[in-house]
Amino acid sequence: MHFLKDRGFSHAHASEITPQGIYAARRRWMQGLAAGAALQALPALAQSARPGKLAPLPGGRSSVAGAMVMDKPTSYADASSYNNYYEFGTDKSDPERAAHTLKPRPWTVAVEGEVKKPGTFDLDTLLKLAPLEERIYRLRCVEGWAMVIPWVGYSLAELIKRVEPTGNAKYVQFVTLADKAQMPGLSSGVLDWPYVEGLRLDEAMHPLTLLAFGMYGEVLPHQNGAPLRLVVPWKYGFKSGKSIVKIRFVESQPKTSWQSAAAREYGFFSNVNPTVDHPRWSQATERRIGEDGLFAKKRPTLMFNGYETQVGQLYAGMDLKKFY
Ligand code: MTE
Repeated sequence: MHFLKDRGFSHAHASEITPQGIYAARRRWMQGLAAGAALQALPALAQSARPGKLAPLPGGRSSVAGAMVMDKPTSYADASSYNNYYEFGTDKSDPERAAHTLKPRPWTVAVEGEVKKPGTFDLDTLLKLAPLEERIYRLRCVEGWAMVIPWVGYSLAELIKRVEPTGNAKYVQFVTLADKAQMPGLSSGVLDWPYVEGLRLDEAMHPLTLLAFGMYGEVLPHQNGAPLRLVVPWKYGFKSGKSIVKIRFVESQPKTSWQSAAAREYGFFSNVNPTVDHPRWSQATERRIGEDGLFAKKRPTLMFNGYETQVGQLYAGMDLKKFY
């Protein structure tokens, strides 16, 4: 158990979260909402809240069902300072402090395995592969906290269609960067590096599965997974690998870093599910980052993180207690 405690996730304390800037951001967002409605200028939401810290990366309005949750977005200050990116350390504040050493350019992504058109794509090619869209998604971490983030990107399916998976492709593995020169956390044995994740092909093809290049109308901050990452909104956050360098199409279910660390705690599917507890804590409720404080209520966790209408069918007939 000690081993699991050392290698697995732990709960965060409310005191770790700074309420700094939340009120200002909320006010800006409300103003943006009013202006957006008046001008009919979409996507006004994120553009109005653009933090002005990094290069702009606007996205057009998404028509994908479920792509725009109406919840108030988390402040940029919180979303970019309270992170899990173990390659830069295991404390929530480590990535913001340490990830300046990450070099997001030049960058390539190798696509290999069971595809008819394998190849290596550079970042600019990927950015132009399909129109960039804005998507406001809930992201729920297995530790029990959640955020609402306006991402910029397009459905991973756009890339998958272009490389033409063969009939043998049943799963997709995502390999993320592991470079000791850029990532101080790699010297710790907390996970097997590189950080690897996987999806079933139909999950990877689902229009909500997002290849994200930006957030809040700008390119991704390093600590959020620059220059590109996955966002799978109905699964626990660890399925959404950051700083992806390789996408591999395979026939059998690939190993993931979190399964290797503690298979009993982190299954392959890892769908957000209030009825399947983590062995060490309940998943029935969650707290929104930015809503902490004396009077903040815990929210009930939603099945598939609230995306059941869109993705429930992918798991029809499956025992979700067994395939956790
Ligand atoms: N990707 C890599 N390469 N390394 C990581 O440690 N952490 C995951 C996921 N992707 C992680 C990763 C976890 S546990 C979560 S909750 C999300 O990233 C957090 O994303 P955010 O910091 O943008 O909120």
